[in-house]
Amino acid sequence: MSSLNVSAQFSSGFCQPDCVQQDCCSFTCPSNEAVPMVFGDFIRDSIDNNLFWLRIMMEHALFMRLGFACINLDLINEAQRYEELYSNLLSQARAVANAPSEQCVRALNQASIDLTMSFACFKTMVLDRIITCGPAKIGGYNFPLLIDHVRREAIAFIGRLNALQTGRREPLALTIIRDQTFWHRIMADHAKFILHLLDPSERQFIDQAGAFSQLFDQKRMEALDLKSMFEPNFQIYPIIRRFTRDSLNVAIQIRDFKATATQLIADCELLSVIPELLADHVRREAQRFVETMERRLSELAHVKN
Ligand SMILES: [Fe+2]
Ligand SMILES: [Fe+2]
Repeated sequence: MSSLNVSAQFSSGFCQPDCVQQDCCSFTCPSNEAVPMVFGDFIRDSIDNNLFWLRIMMEHALFMRLGFACINLDLINEAQRYEELYSNLLSQARAVANAPSEQCVRALNQASIDLTMSFACFKTMVLDRIITCGPAKIGGYNFPLLIDHVRREAIAFIGRLNALQTGRREPLALTIIRDQTFWHRIMADHAKFILHLLDPSERQFIDQAGAFSQLFDQKRMEALDLKSMFEPNFQIYPIIRRFTRDSLNVAIQIRDFKATATQLIADCELLSVIPELLADHVRREAQRFVETMERRLSELAHVKN
């Protein structure tokens, strides 16, 4: 390949960094106009993300608190403080949702980013102390993967709010494939948590949870393959429509499985150590996945190609 002045070769556009990284300089990046970008509305999307994720974060603090050993009072108190801070911020978010203005929404987003950055650090510290060896090690009942999982959810929340605050837009295909790699992994983790918290005698439910775990691990690998194929330009290729429809179908299946489990736990008809709130929490996250895939399918329907 002839030597190229890479910075002069490409106009600023989304695909530039990947072209440079992959030494694919003969590849012509499509113009920005040729790549459909994600649709969005600052106020609506900000409120929607805050109302959903602030409650989720508040519940993470509760689940972590319940999982700490009773001798770790400092961690129990710290988790309780996060519960209260999120509860207050959620009340503020509900007030903003009733009378939104750009200024209030922007301030709310920033408060959520700041609190969640701090909470993500707390999760990191806790995870470190669970998996380390030595005097700092803590016991308790929080699985390491659970803390890693809730930290990933916190980082995703921060990422969404940062994108809204800065007005950063990205190709629709990249958003869709990121949604899918994120949510497939989250669903696979949930299936594994359910599997490990069910009573060992609940053989049929354990088999079902195991099947979901395998299904979502597989879906995540497929999404990662597609992500790699779509790089660097992230045009809308036809496969993304089928893959998104398939993701919606499996999201509905696990949502319904969790809804059934939640009801059985509420009626004390399922043997497990799963609190009802945790069952409902993972059901709501599956419902969020369903709604996200429905939204992406309707956005894809508006793209001509
Ligand atoms: Fe969660
Ligand atoms: Fe989750």
